[in-house]
Amino acid sequence: MSGQLALLGGSKTIDGPFKPYQPIGKEEADAARRVIESGVLSKFIGAWHEDFFGGPKVREFERQCEQYFDVKHAITVNSWTSGLIAAVGAIGIEPGDEVIVPPWTMCASATAILHWNAIPVFADIDPTTFCLDPRSVEANISPYTKAIMAVDIFGHPADMDALMDIARRHGLKVISDSAQAPGARYKGKYAGTLADVGGISLNYHKHIHTGEGGVLFTNDDRIADRLRLIRNHAEAVVGDMGVDDLTNMIGYNFRLGEIECAIGIEQLKKLPTLIGSRQRAALRLSEGLAGCEGLQLPLVTQGYEHAFYVYPMLLNTDTIGVQRELLVKALAAEGIPGLSNRYQNVHLLPIFQRKIAFGKKGFPWQSEICKREVSYRKGICPVAEDFNDRRYLGFSMCSHVLEDNEIEKVVAAFQKVWSGLHELRELNNEQR
Ligand SMILES: Cc1ncc(COP(=O)(O)O)c(C=O)c1O
Repeated sequence: MSGQLALLGGSKTIDGPFKPYQPIGKEEADAARRVIESGVLSKFIGAWHEDFFGGPKVREFERQCEQYFDVKHAITVNSWTSGLIAAVGAIGIEPGDEVIVPPWTMCASATAILHWNAIPVFADIDPTTFCLDPRSVEANISPYTKAIMAVDIFGHPADMDALMDIARRHGLKVISDSAQAPGARYKGKYAGTLADVGGISLNYHKHIHTGEGGVLFTNDDRIADRLRLIRNHAEAVVGDMGVDDLTNMIGYNFRLGEIECAIGIEQLKKLPTLIGSRQRAALRLSEGLAGCEGLQLPLVTQGYEHAFYVYPMLLNTDTIGVQRELLVKALAAEGIPGLSNRYQNVHLLPIFQRKIAFGKKGFPWQSEICKREVSYRKGICPVAEDFNDRRYLGFSMCSHVLEDNEIEKVVAAFQKVWSGLHELRELNNEQR
């Protein structure tokens, strides 16, 4: 594909909008209506009572998730942020404990740790998977480390064998933040089910959703009990339930409603098809973009099954000879929707840079519970920082349907920009 680049006045490769991704259909509408007609929109009671476990749709959805994801306990929550907070509390994290987390994630992975007055410690990411690099995890372990938060970012599972091995050797717990990876697999097992506790997000921009929501997974009965308590006013329940260990038994209302769970039941049925269509689109992108020199495409090695929430690429700007920002402008001008040239370096957010979280005096860092100075300065995670500053280019896979003809257009737009690189290089040099 050649022709004048749209950025330089030529016509766009993609002239119309792509079909928006819409996994919610008639099945979900009917299911929601049936719940409304039943009049039971929630049945949770924050007391030791049969309804402590929620209403019929909550229980049905949870049992179906257990079957689907092949896990002993599935526990619904009203967001995955709530799920992460419950997970950190349930594994018994104490104030001042350190939890290792990647910076290349959504901020809730780290703030859930902070929420229990524990200290997030950022370890760098692996340059191929974008997930926690086990070597960096090992290098960041201190006498105060109590857990690892593995994030299956963009739908690619983290290297769970390596992380679980580190955890075993150092006596740590592992949480798997698989928000973006519902249905992804690691060595045949579903993402989120390989750690002490894990789970997925059901917010509206994920593969399947209930508007807002999340599902926790664990194979540990004790952790499951504690998750259910934190979800539903633990402090009011533990006495009657005869719970002795009150560690983190401060409860919340993290309960998901009956309508959402009825929708979730329908969404779960669609998950294999929706994941399959993301994987197919990713494969076609990889085939089509293979000839773009200096563009590194996602590599999925044996044992991993990627859910492709995002199709992540890396730019070798030295080979390409054009700065990322200009290249992205040229690609966007061709009409490609859903491109982004940044993700997250959570350690560089103001909350960590200024170490101001609870109140204004720097708690928990400036307090006796924080046992050592933990650094969040730029430079501690060189791979994640370099990707964000210069090299990363992401294509959102859950914003549009991405039918074959749409993927062909995306490929054509990339190829057109790549064949016009000489013009962009001139522009790039002028702008320097
Ligand atoms: C990696 C990751 N962790 C946590 C969350 C928080 O999930 P939720 O929006 O359901 O609270 C998200 C949401 O996008 C996420 O991508």
